[in-house]
Amino acid sequence: MNSVTASLPANLYLRNLSLADLDQVDKLESQAFSENERASREKIAYRLRNCADICFGLFQTCDDPNAEILVGHTLSTKTNSFFITDQAMEMPELDPVTHTPVSEQEKLGHLPTGPTVALHSLAVAKNFRKQGLAQVLMKYTAEAISSDNATTRNRADRISIIVHGELVPFYQHLGYKDNGPSKCAHGGEKWNDMWLEL
Ligand SMILES: CC(C)(COP(=O)(O)OP(=O)(O)OC[C@H]1O[C@@H](n2cnc3c(N)ncnc32)[C@H](O)[C@@H]1OP(=O)(O)O)[C@@H](O)C(=O)NCCC(=O)NCCS
Repeated sequence: MNSVTASLPANLYLRNLSLADLDQVDKLESQAFSENERASREKIAYRLRNCADICFGLFQTCDDPNAEILVGHTLSTKTNSFFITDQAMEMPELDPVTHTPVSEQEKLGHLPTGPTVALHSLAVAKNFRKQGLAQVLMKYTAEAISSDNATTRNRADRISIIVHGELVPFYQHLGYKDNGPSKCAHGGEKWNDMWLEL
């Protein structure tokens, strides 16, 4: 983990996200993705409630020691399948009071014992792009869920992602393999399945 964070400027740091970060994550998600591609605020809240241990934020310190600015994030769930499926992108029906799934039969969204981390969102704020920060976030995410420090809750065998064709080289540079066109039709778009064995 140190090798990844060592490359960051002193005013930037990485940590797990939590539900307290919802407003900033929602804002960055809407800046980075079109309406049909972005995760809804409700879905982000679901992920931060249920699997914040595999969701990470890159933050910038500011003058107010109690404030921090979200600069980038990765949002993920765990899934039983090798590649990302439309079901993995969804969320189960939730009890309005407890926010837990109404039925345990539903195989939608986060499946805690799944061997695959389905990485749904990588976003970097516009004014921080082209500085290598997305690469840092992706490397940090991979190390956090594969290191000796990973718990059984967040450890996984691989990371799977769906990507637009133009970003395939970016992920290949990070060691991901390209499996070609995905069956996933998220947002009515065409995607490639890529994965990184951990
Ligand atoms: C994609 C994204 C996360 C990259 O963040 P970043 O911090 O600028 O990325 P890095 O600086 O680590 O790497 C930059 C590299 O990403 C690749 N890249 C980024 N955007 C790209 C695009 N639209 N088309 C092709 N390559 C792109 C290039 O290889 C680029 O290298 P270059 O600067 O030499 O051209 C950022 O542009 C973003 O948030 N975009 C909107 C959301 C998105 O598309 N997320 C990925 C979905 S899977």
